[in-house]
Amino acid sequence: MPRQFFVGGNFKMNPISRAQKKVIVNELNAADLDPNTEVVIAPPSLYLLPLKDIVRSDIKVSAQNCYCKTSGAYTGEISPVQLADAGVPYVIIGHSERRTLFHETSELVAQKTKAALDGSLSVILCVGETLQEREAEKTIQVVENQLRAVVTLLNESDWDRVVIAYEPVWAIGTGRVATAAQAQEVHAYIRQYLSTAVSPAVSENTRIIYGGSVTATNCKELSTQIDVDGFLVGGASLKPEFVDIINVKR
Ligand code: G3P
Repeated sequence: MPRQFFVGGNFKMNPISRAQKKVIVNELNAADLDPNTEVVIAPPSLYLLPLKDIVRSDIKVSAQNCYCKTSGAYTGEISPVQLADAGVPYVIIGHSERRTLFHETSELVAQKTKAALDGSLSVILCVGETLQEREAEKTIQVVENQLRAVVTLLNESDWDRVVIAYEPVWAIGTGRVATAAQAQEVHAYIRQYLSTAVSPAVSENTRIIYGGSVTATNCKELSTQIDVDGFLVGGASLKPEFVDIINVKR
């Protein structure tokens, strides 16, 4: 069965006002969107529930993070069970900004992923190498290590609710998008790794999406790559061009 194309919008810590949030949602609500593409938007936590109440029903919402525990004395954290209870179906886990700025290890990312899946959420699992790691030709090794920590904790059936986002750190927020060949190379490796480390079925069914300076201009060529199943969009998800990225397969 073909994998459904997936476009996520990671708003990160933007926008900075409820008025701007409403403008973004109103533009999406009014847009003509490809019904064959799964669309998920991840606003800051504070806006999750208000946005979920006003966004069109064919767009899902996602948290940008959650903790690895269900409840307890974890000041500032959000439980995957609380997100599910609030009707939030997705969560982004392991974004490079969580890994670098907030020192999340691959082991913690794996624990969070398992806790989110056990809490009945779907997970957008981020992996990717730094520029230094790429220049040292360690991209595959880094991505495999990040994936292996998660593979170790998940059951085969868990993977039905995982979307993998390959986000080279050097392409995030820099305007330096990976070439289609660079993205395809790593996506193909991830798919091959899933086949041997989990199963051929999981490998075939798991969506592997690309993130890192995706725009309406560069998304078309990237989308033609056989192992690119969609995008995780940052800055451009806050702009009208996000609609063009969603509709890239039309
Ligand atoms: O999670 C997606 C994000 O990291 C990509 O950001 O601004 O390069 O599209 P951007």
